[in-house]
Amino acid sequence: MTAANPFHDPVRFERRVPPCTLVIFGANGDLTKRKLVPALFRLAYDRRLPAGLSVIGNSRTAMSDDDFREKMRESTQKFLEDTPFDENLWRDFAAGLFYVAGDMNDPACYNAIRAKLGELETSRQTGGNALFYLSTQPSHYAAAIAGIGAAGMAQAEDGRWRRIIVEKPFGHDLDSARELEQEIHKVFREDDVYRIDHYLGKETVQNILAFRFANGIFEPLWNRRYVNHVQITAAESIGVEGRGSYYQEAGALRDMIQNHLLQVMATVTMEPPAVFEPTAVRNERAKLLQSIHIMKPDEVEANTVPGQYGEGRVGGQTLPGFRQEEGVSADAQTDTYAAITFFVDNWRWAGVPFYVRSGKRLAKRVTDIAIQFNTAPHAIFSSQSADTAPFAGPNLLVLRVQPEEGISLRFLSKLPGSGMKLRPVSMDFKYGSSFGVRSPAAYETLLLDALTGDATLYTRQDMVEASWQAVQPILNVWQNRKFDFPNYAAGSWGPKASDDMLARRGHVWRTP
Ligand code: BG6
Repeated sequence: MTAANPFHDPVRFERRVPPCTLVIFGANGDLTKRKLVPALFRLAYDRRLPAGLSVIGNSRTAMSDDDFREKMRESTQKFLEDTPFDENLWRDFAAGLFYVAGDMNDPACYNAIRAKLGELETSRQTGGNALFYLSTQPSHYAAAIAGIGAAGMAQAEDGRWRRIIVEKPFGHDLDSARELEQEIHKVFREDDVYRIDHYLGKETVQNILAFRFANGIFEPLWNRRYVNHVQITAAESIGVEGRGSYYQEAGALRDMIQNHLLQVMATVTMEPPAVFEPTAVRNERAKLLQSIHIMKPDEVEANTVPGQYGEGRVGGQTLPGFRQEEGVSADAQTDTYAAITFFVDNWRWAGVPFYVRSGKRLAKRVTDIAIQFNTAPHAIFSSQSADTAPFAGPNLLVLRVQPEEGISLRFLSKLPGSGMKLRPVSMDFKYGSSFGVRSPAAYETLLLDALTGDATLYTRQDMVEASWQAVQPILNVWQNRKFDFPNYAAGSWGPKASDDMLARRGHVWRTP
């Protein structure tokens, strides 16, 4: 057994963060308020951060350190969810928050940040280590990277480190993803670049690796001989939440499938790495993403369904359609829903459909992966036909990512009483009741990883490009078509065409 195996290596879970400064570009934005600072505060609550850990927030808005602290306090209290807000702890934590106003296109902004880094190195003993976080609009990425480089902040002196976290989207298509890559590499070494996909940091997504590779009984079934098809669903009940103008340009395929859901699919389908260490795990993920079948234009028609929500009624309330949302044009062709049938061209998965769907304003918020196994080869019980079950076959394994995290396995059982009547039943594992501890949020895990230099759960440029390669043919066809939108009502399960896509292969979407 190698020491690098996490299931036998408690050290991975007890890593100490070295002293350092986190520099957040876009500190006045939603991500900083909702996710980043609450995640840091929870890490502080769990005593995972060193005493001198400091944060420098940057945005154009003029603010004093105290204004910034007050803003962060309000949003942290609001978004902390299941951790108590401890006033004393906040006071200590907030003493490490600083703010430098500045325009990312102005070299003076980076000089001011460099000066602040130097000052904190002495006043808070940050050790000269720095982690830059690009949480701005993607159109500012190139300027920020170049600015950091020109101010001489990207390279560390001996024994210290400089790293950068880049938020998605990594480009708008394959070409722009490559351009961004070139900008990054002019300034940072690949080992210092952390491309974040927060789905990889979710406990339940990480648990897919444990489930598959720490247990002996599932892996022999995990292939085309036993798996009939797989459904990956990421349904959101919310709309675009004030992000209409960003979302109008992005759409569901770019916003969720190109990154989050293809990473989830890769986690479900990749080969076992020989050891649990960053390069080995990332190599397997990358190999899988590179094996996704690249559709030809005529395959796009049969294997993809775009959708856009119109007005709908939910719980007695009328919800507006996408085209009525703020910042969205009245004839927007944006996909707020996308369902794609992917195939993986390798020995393990050839011929197995992977139905992947995601949408805004669907009936409920749920993310899960349903693995439908083949039916028994010969039915000896009269009630054991495929249609006794509400879904295509009796054996279904569901990995529930959110909100009710867990795993359940469905199988047929005899109904009590005389005669041989069968009914589907399920064996359930629930995170909450099994462990009784709070699962860390994805951003906590991922920030901790980047601060300790562990890139296992971060995506890599080859993965980013492979995912773009898989979705680019779809984007190419979609952008030349005029869709008859809206084609699903807010609060429903999406367009009928999506059901038809599965029906063509004799399958039905599961209602989670
Ligand atoms: C983000 C998307 O990356 O993920 C959002 O830009 C989406 O549109 C969000 O709502 C979903 O994340 P989660 O963790 O709430 O499932």
